Amino acid sequence: MIHKPKKMIVANWKMNVTSEKDATGLFLSIKNVVSKLEYTTMVCCPPHMYVNQVAAHVDNKNYRVGGQDAYPEESGSRTGETSVLMMKNAGAEYIILGHSERRHLETKSDVSRKVTAVLEHELTPIVCVGEESRDKNWKKALAQQLKDVFNRVPKKTPENIIVAYEPIWAISSDKKTPATAVEYMEALEVIKKELQKIFKTATAMSKIRFLYGGSLDDKNIEDFLKNAEVDGFLVGRVSHDPRILMTMFRLVEDHMQKEMFPQSS
Ligand code: PGA
Repeated sequence: MIHKPKKMIVANWKMNVTSEKDATGLFLSIKNVVSKLEYTTMVCCPPHMYVNQVAAHVDNKNYRVGGQDAYPEESGSRTGETSVLMMKNAGAEYIILGHSERRHLETKSDVSRKVTAVLEHELTPIVCVGEESRDKNWKKALAQQLKDVFNRVPKKTPENIIVAYEPIWAISSDKKTPATAVEYMEALEVIKKELQKIFKTATAMSKIRFLYGGSLDDKNIEDFLKNAEVDGFLVGRVSHDPRILMTMFRLVEDHMQKEMFPQSS
């Protein structure tokens, strides 16, 4: 049997879906298509309170459910928080952490503790990193973020770690300007160099997966598919638009099909 490599599309619904009916409806509208994809898996990240409902519909390995954040302690007097354990019990298998839209609410060590808690609960953290702007210190700033998050994290299960490069200047930008594949590759070099220092072994490094996120849509995904070394994408603004998602799935599938069977295209 041929092993088929898959790209992961993480749909970060942010706070854009506002009822259980809409969350379930959106998931069901893409579920049948996603279940038939050969080269794409999808992780839906609804707002916390709909994780349970969406997860109840998961019956295919092509799609999973994730959370948009989680508190590192299991339970206790933490008004308004949702713990990693609660997310896990609700059906989440992935947790987005350190998203730039949350960074003003949490310290670097909070993010590090959350990554540790998620790994301890055998879930997969999707750790967001990215510089504010491409000024002369951007590489240093990016490397520092990785140190801050990963230095104190257990190194035993790198296959459960996903790093999403999300440059802040590209996220939901009004001009809809994503990074280019070239800019992503420049950042990936910095990220890998820093993670290599932290995780030490080449085997560990080969297991970590890397995503790109920031104003990605059906118009620019091909640049990344063709010109970047990327395991998948973290999508925000268009993640609750089934029509655009379908086009993105098709582009991923066509690209991967050509990669696998170049002679048949
Ligand atoms: P965007 O969001 O696709 O709207 O830029 C990505 C993200 O914030 O995860």
